[in-house]
Amino acid sequence: MNTNIAIFASGTGSNARKIVEYFVQHPTIHVRLICSNKASAKVLDLCKEYDISKCYFDKKFIEEGTGLLKILKDEQVDYLILAGFLWKCPDYLIAAYPNKIINIHPSLLPKYGGKGMFGHYVHEAVKENKEKESGITIHLVNEEYDKGKIIFQKKCELLENDAPDDIQKKVQVLEHQFFPPVIEQYIMQFEN
Ligand code: GAR
Repeated sequence: MNTNIAIFASGTGSNARKIVEYFVQHPTIHVRLICSNKASAKVLDLCKEYDISKCYFDKKFIEEGTGLLKILKDEQVDYLILAGFLWKCPDYLIAAYPNKIINIHPSLLPKYGGKGMFGHYVHEAVKENKEKESGITIHLVNEEYDKGKIIFQKKCELLENDAPDDIQKKVQVLEHQFFPPVIEQYIMQFEN
């Protein structure tokens, strides 16, 4: 059985690229659509490169809902993957895709999660608190920011003189290594 995924991303899309590359030859899981809230987001370059459908929306469009749900239905999307998507996932999407929306967060949740905690803000807060470790959390998305069921975590050790940029680099290595296979394992458990 084929399973189609849509990636939602707001920025560079380094995680989106790893996901696209990982599934490009996959026998059953296909990246069908990339969605962004920024028309100029670099992540959308992947669409041309890999012949993937593209969707750009503004706040009104995502809040209204009907248009986005129609696009997801037309593309036969089964799972939504949030890879650096910085807007809150609207409730109607959570209702339409129960336990089928997966997010990656660049810290060990529940630490350093919630509204406003994204990207470099997370790593700066980790540094500020002199944490000895950080890492990644891959979780299902529910109505509350960063509070859905955790499906995977991985830690990395931090050194005293690691700057926020160094922390970001360590965390990104884990993201790129683990996010694609964790998505695959999560989806495969429901196949057949
Ligand atoms: C990633 O580090 C991801 O964990 C983070 O945004 C970055 C996107 O990087 N997501 C959040 O902070 C969500 N709260 P990318 O565009 O290079 O994939």
